[in-house]
Amino acid sequence: MPIITEIADLKRIYKRRVPKMFYDYAESGSWSEQTFRENTSDFDKIRLRQRIAKDMDNRSIKSQMIGEDVSMPVALAPVGLTGMQSADGEIKAAKAAEKFGVPFCLSTMSICSIEDVAAHTTKPFWFQVYTLKDDDFMGRLFERARAANVSAMVITVDLQVLGQRHKDLKNGLSAPPKLTIKSVANMMTKVTWGLEMLQTKRRFFGNIVGHAKGVSDPSSLSSWTAEAFDPSLDWDRIKTLMEMWGGKVILKGILDVEDAKKAVEVGADAIVVSNHGGRQLDGALSSIRMLEDIVKEVGDKTEVWLDSGIRSGQDVLKAVAMGAKGVMIGRAWVYGLGAMGEKGVTSALEVIHKELDVSMALCGKRDIQDVDRDIVLVPKGFSGDWA
Ligand SMILES: Cc1cc2nc3c(=O)[nH]c(=O)nc-3n(C[C@H](O)[C@H](O)[C@H](O)COP(=O)(O)O)c2cc1C
Repeated sequence: MPIITEIADLKRIYKRRVPKMFYDYAESGSWSEQTFRENTSDFDKIRLRQRIAKDMDNRSIKSQMIGEDVSMPVALAPVGLTGMQSADGEIKAAKAAEKFGVPFCLSTMSICSIEDVAAHTTKPFWFQVYTLKDDDFMGRLFERARAANVSAMVITVDLQVLGQRHKDLKNGLSAPPKLTIKSVANMMTKVTWGLEMLQTKRRFFGNIVGHAKGVSDPSSLSSWTAEAFDPSLDWDRIKTLMEMWGGKVILKGILDVEDAKKAVEVGADAIVVSNHGGRQLDGALSSIRMLEDIVKEVGDKTEVWLDSGIRSGQDVLKAVAMGAKGVMIGRAWVYGLGAMGEKGVTSALEVIHKELDVSMALCGKRDIQDVDRDIVLVPKGFSGDWA
């Protein structure tokens, strides 16, 4: 077992073990990747304020997200296709999250189905949907989620139309992977990945194939996907989807104060300040730059979370200090999964937990609930000098 001390260790192993097509799928942003890069580099611009001779004993980073107890305020973000990063990947990640005491959110575009994940876990998990046109399909997804004891619906609102990632087009990304000379040559070098993948039946989009009208096999999926998204989405439609679900709702993909106010108006239990990990609007500001303005406006009316760019516990601490009640991580757990399956996801969570705990202590705080703006040093104009 390799010694893992930081998320970058997991990323290195992940790159070695998983076919290039799926590594590229995760490790890309849209177009020039400016927003993807700045999501992480902007965190580096923020500094932590070192304090000494403060009582750092008996610390706690336990918290709550939408009323659910969490061992740290970090949830696993919905990530599509994770069953291609590692065989049965969504089940492995959900189990790791459950054991660690943090929420797991399953993507609609997962390989393992809602029912698969429910059958392998004991606690409720979250489910993510896109705002698709097909009411019949949406209704059935909600029904299946209710039957699987899903405790909250994450509705992703920043994907009305699709940002382009160059590498996915060049690699011919698909699930299961298309067998070309190039892809087969690359997969043959990924022995463990390949052997595990041969042992599972879960190699297609488990929530869609056999459930969406006209999608009875993987070959009909691409035409369905092209039709399914709703470019004409508006707030009335978001409200309708929220009512169709009828339970707790997290609106994910808010990056603007005006949109945050609307999200409060329609009654979101939480919002995620997010640019989809830099995969949608290239040129948008990083989430961490937008956080404070949004918190100022709606932080007392709904829970404001953040994702995009978190690679360490220090990043989590910075986000919490700047007003986030919680965060979601995407790539950080995918690196772990691709590197070492369930153990790797656990390892990613352990790394972040330890970094968050120790960094909080070194800032002179014993309880995550007491962390505030006082512990960060933020460059002038970081959030506000954009017009
Ligand atoms: C490979 C990949 C697939 C993703 N798939 C989905 C998805 O199916 N649904 C969704 O709402 N967000 C999806 N996201 C976005 C994540 O939920 C999250 O917003 C993002 O990863 C956060 O940024 P980070 O990776 O820098 O932590 C995906 C992100 C990645 C990297």
